[in-house]
Amino acid sequence: MELRLPGKRALVTGSSRGIGRAIALRLADAGVDVAINFFRHRGPAEEVAHEIEARGVRALLLKGNVADEAHVNRMFEEIRARWGGLEILVSNAASGVLKPVNHLTLHHFHWTMDINAAALLPLVQRFIGLPCEGQRSVVAVSSLGALRAIPNYAAVGASKAALESLVRHLAAELGPSGVRVNAVSAGTVDTDALKHFPNREQLLAEACRRTPAGRLVTPQDVANTVLFLCTDLAIMIQGQTLIVDGGYSILA
Ligand SMILES: NC(=O)c1ccc[n+]([C@@H]2O[C@H](COP(=O)([O-])OP(=O)(O)OC[C@H]3O[C@@H](n4cnc5c(N)ncnc54)[C@H](OP(=O)(O)O)[C@@H]3O)[C@@H](O)[C@H]2O)c1
Repeated sequence: MELRLPGKRALVTGSSRGIGRAIALRLADAGVDVAINFFRHRGPAEEVAHEIEARGVRALLLKGNVADEAHVNRMFEEIRARWGGLEILVSNAASGVLKPVNHLTLHHFHWTMDINAAALLPLVQRFIGLPCEGQRSVVAVSSLGALRAIPNYAAVGASKAALESLVRHLAAELGPSGVRVNAVSAGTVDTDALKHFPNREQLLAEACRRTPAGRLVTPQDVANTVLFLCTDLAIMIQGQTLIVDGGYSILA
């Protein structure tokens, strides 16, 4: 389906791989200039930047840790200097410690919260400090672990619950100034992130078997929903978390 947002400018955090990469490419297909953020691995980020430019829109490569406010400030200064403004922010970068609760330390917990939840605050603050043309849209990428208990997922699940709550509070406070803030919560997607799960194969098989849609969620499924939320078709969707899981979470 053809959804176009020509002339818009977006930052997608953690867009060198996996779901973030798919979101960046989907936005570029819709005519959006996309700033690619990565932290550790420059090579894949450069490849995404080339793929974006091949679609006839601009790409900007931004190295930075979203959990470090100084890095976030620097990324937005670069966007201001190069592009002048921004209309779309996709907060997708995430990490986290996967351990049973008995082995989780407070350090693990804070580290996970800082990247997955707290980072959204300075990202949005800097985002709304930039000029824009028309309305602004923020989309945060969450997971079913915000609502459900998943083995080894306590820290990440709690961080995603905090993220979804922050989305609602930001939406309520920023809505009157023309900023829409929503989240997309994905079911299991086969990306590099799953390699860190000790039970990856079992997770994938179980997700596939239990999903009413009959297949796993792909990065493109998530990206399509993010694009939709950035368009005027979603103009009255505010502060929501849209679940993209092929129906997995509706089953008892
Ligand atoms: N995969 C799933 O099953 C699934 C399900 C539901 C929701 N999600 C959510 O979807 C999002 C993307 O997940 P994914 O599976 O695509 O992850 P992924 O394949 O592990 O990719 C993570 C991306 O985030 C970047 N990143 C990591 N830490 C960062 C930091 N501190 N600052 C900036 N960038 C950072 C990585 O860049 P570098 O390589 O340079 O570090 C990479 O581009 C996350 O929010 C995740 O929680 C995933």
